[in-house]
Amino acid sequence: MKKLLFITTFVLALAMLLAACGGGGDTAGGGDDVSAGKELFAKVVIGTQAGCSTCHSLDAGTVIVGPSIDGVGSRLSADELRESILDPNAVLVEGFPADTMPPVWADELSGEQVDQLVAYLLTLK
Ligand code: HEC
Repeated sequence: MKKLLFITTFVLALAMLLAACGGGGDTAGGGDDVSAGKELFAKVVIGTQAGCSTCHSLDAGTVIVGPSIDGVGSRLSADELRESILDPNAVLVEGFPADTMPPVWADELSGEQVDQLVAYLLTLK
């Protein structure tokens, strides 16, 4: 009887774990974050602010207001990406003055949205 209870608990826990990870059947782990981040990045307006894509191009060498984010996933780690979004003046890309990327994203984005953007930017190798 005890053993049966153990097995039932185990199966239930497993089912809950699978349900928590599930959804979409996208690439292993983080796949949903990547597509959500990609969508968010492409938005022209996020909250009350001009969106990322109004300043950052995906084409290498094309400068809009900020640098192209082509290959940014090989240049910066997840932590560095997070910092460049939440505290843009902490480390400046050479040739770009401080305060050009508005330091508003810590207020404007949820923690989840920042995670999604970082997951997406990491795929740009
Ligand atoms: C008004 C224009 C503007 C907007 C909007 C903007 N950025 Fe930027 N961004 C810049 C500029 C200019 C730089 C370079 C100066 C610096 O490092 O802060 C930069 C730098 C960066 C970097 C570092 C790039 C590197 O090669 O090191 C990342 C990553 C980045 N931005 C991501 C984002 C994301 C994600 C958003 C949207 C949430 C966003 N930016 C919105 C202008 C902008």
